[in-house]
Amino acid sequence: MGYQGHFRVWRGSDEGGGLEDFTVEVNEGEVVLDVIHRLQATQTPDLAVRWNCKAGKCGSCSAEINGKPRLLCMTRMSVFAEDETVTVTPMRTFPVIRDLVTDVSYNYKKAREIPAFKPPAGVAPGEYRMQQVDVERSQEFRKCIECFLCNNTCHVIRDHEENKESFAGPRFLMRVAELEMHPLDEADRVQEAQSSHGLGLCNITKCCTEVCPEHIKITDNALIPMKERVADRRYDPIVWLGNKLFRN
Ligand code: SF4
Ligand code: F3S
Ligand code: FES
Repeated sequence: MGYQGHFRVWRGSDEGGGLEDFTVEVNEGEVVLDVIHRLQATQTPDLAVRWNCKAGKCGSCSAEINGKPRLLCMTRMSVFAEDETVTVTPMRTFPVIRDLVTDVSYNYKKAREIPAFKPPAGVAPGEYRMQQVDVERSQEFRKCIECFLCNNTCHVIRDHEENKESFAGPRFLMRVAELEMHPLDEADRVQEAQSSHGLGLCNITKCCTEVCPEHIKITDNALIPMKERVADRRYDPIVWLGNKLFRN
């Protein structure tokens, strides 16, 4: 049975805006994105929302629902009480273009800062051989749909715009970890993670892991192992001596 739902949606741009209230039909089995589409069709034809697959796979429909970062297409209306007001706002960490659509170019900039996979010289694609355990490790990371909810949530940039320059965010620190753990990658990612991608700013709050719609264990399987590699290198006396001798 359908019912009249109460929605509060943020409208505006970077220059300003506010929450607008709507009463809108909700039907059984619907997700929040269905209701946003009904609003567009019946009351607010100019409401901006980004989406593509409606199946939790394209990563386009990221927003915040009742203050929690979530995918609009994967949040069922049945998780809310019928008399509850559902508040939908754009991701807070990125500049708003219009309404629910944010400018996520920060993320693409960070992606470009990570040097590409560097295989050993003389081994052609197709000749790469690796253990199944290594394949599985990187497969977890490659489930990422680039929704950027993790980067949106991490307090290092959510509350500190000034950190954006030096912090790649959990999504791209995970990419650095994926490459570092790849048995055929020959680039040295450990020092770079710390000095160029801001690994040291992560204090393991795990909020990124909590919001990941793909349930990737970002903190436990990518960030903490990277931090351990940084610590091993720093405190290994042989490496320390090597650094001393060769740096001078
Ligand atoms: Fe989204 Fe998870 Fe990928 Fe982060 S790691 S961008 S939360 S899918
Ligand atoms: Fe941020 Fe995740 Fe670290 S939320 S502080 S990157 S554990
Ligand atoms: Fe593709 Fe929601 S529309 S993830």
